Amino acid sequence: MDAIKLLKQDHQDVEALFKRFEKSGDEAYQTHQRIGEQVIKLLSIHAAIEEEFLYPAARELSEDTQDMVLEALEEHHVAKAVLAELEKMSAEDERYCAKLTVLMENIRHHVKEEEGELFPQLRKLMSNAQLEALGAAMKQAKGSAPTRPHPMAPDSPPGNIISGALAKVLDTGKDLARDAMRSAKRVASSRFEGARARRSTRKAPSRQPKGRRS
Ligand SMILES: [Fe+2]
Repeated sequence: MDAIKLLKQDHQDVEALFKRFEKSGDEAYQTHQRIGEQVIKLLSIHAAIEEEFLYPAARELSEDTQDMVLEALEEHHVAKAVLAELEKMSAEDERYCAKLTVLMENIRHHVKEEEGELFPQLRKLMSNAQLEALGAAMKQAKGSAPTRPHPMAPDSPPGNIISGALAKVLDTGKDLARDAMRSAKRVASSRFEGARARRSTRKAPSRQPKGRRS
């Protein structure tokens, strides 16, 4: 898959998550939390591979892309700051949905600019073979990209390549700890429910048919 198709696919995936969020009920806290976590992961990986491959390539190829890339980097920085706040919040916080809504507005604006201006420029500047090679490199880099936002980390080479590798290790540890905690809670709650159901069965009085009074 060429680089632009791969990035557009990411844009579609995050848009699908935004639509799910918009269709969910106001108090669907668990759904909001899960969607928020998926948005954080998808956008953290997506931003990392763009910053590692796409933006440096665009800047290298033409002077005309400099301003577009600098603006895109600032938009990424703002998005990562919001993602980092969301990461620490519960979906039951009264600011959670408002924050996610503002993030969606920012990302939709960013996607519109990338797809409308930067990507067409890159199609002109790069051959199909170059775009395929860039796409393959980005696809592979997804496996080692950070899964959480790091707004204060470097966003340009070579700093982002070094800090991204360390961030990936730390993020994987946090992801595993969160998943382990969740499955432990699920097991504990299903055991509790099972024990409660058994207790209520034992305590239930046996129903005897009432005899007729003479
Ligand atoms: Fe981007």
